Amino acid sequence: MAAVRKPLIAGNWKMNNSHLEAIALTQKLGFALTDKDFAATEIAVLPPFTALRSVQTLIDGDKLRLLYGAQDVSPHEDGPYTGDVSARMLAKFGCRFVLAGHSERRIHHHEDDVLVNSKVRAVLQRNMTPVLCIGEPLEVRQAGEHLDYVLAQLDGGLAGLTAGQVGGLVVAYEPVWAIGTGQVATPADAQEVCRAIRGRISAVHGHPAGASTRILYGGSVKPDNMPAIMAEPDVDGALVGGASLDASEFVRICRYRERSTA
Ligand code: PGA
Repeated sequence: MAAVRKPLIAGNWKMNNSHLEAIALTQKLGFALTDKDFAATEIAVLPPFTALRSVQTLIDGDKLRLLYGAQDVSPHEDGPYTGDVSARMLAKFGCRFVLAGHSERRIHHHEDDVLVNSKVRAVLQRNMTPVLCIGEPLEVRQAGEHLDYVLAQLDGGLAGLTAGQVGGLVVAYEPVWAIGTGQVATPADAQEVCRAIRGRISAVHGHPAGASTRILYGGSVKPDNMPAIMAEPDVDGALVGGASLDASEFVRICRYRERSTA
């Protein structure tokens, strides 16, 4: 079953890199990553909006196999939404992936599950792949309520979607307490939640959807902790923040198979 889910490793650059810096980083990745890397894993970068055009031009021009996408999207069609960027615009850029509901958006922009769900729908409508981000804050984990919390976010984010849509999208489990803190979840912690996510998708949307949805772990992923996380059966890849800003670190993460889990 796991064989049909090709691993996905996505670099979430967050609010880092001017378009010039983005070009430099993309060039380094294009130079370092090989056909062998891309045969084994889908690899994507998620630059800020202002760098997307430069990254697109470079990837197209040099025929790189790197995929790319955006970190956020408006739930609305084009129109009077100052400062927002529509799914239509991102699709025109050739974006494959769009994050929805990253915890930094939920925290700093008060995004709730209803809004996140409308973003997921906007992305699907333009034939891109949503990456629905979910994860519990520290106090929820300490109270032992993380599974209920994460599954409620999952239900909210996927509300009203067809089984086919759910089977084709990506869920990223990112415990808030592990993001940017250096405090990575243990492989067993990641597996516990990713397994519960897959079980819930199977229960609500049917087994084929549960078997094909890719579930990523995110939160302080580094070259050294990646192999053990990827050894877990329900983890299909990683959403990488800080370590994706350094080309050699990110490439080492993409080559997790070559590293021992010891
Ligand atoms: P981090 O961020 O790898 O820097 O912890 C992950 C994320 O927020 O996607």
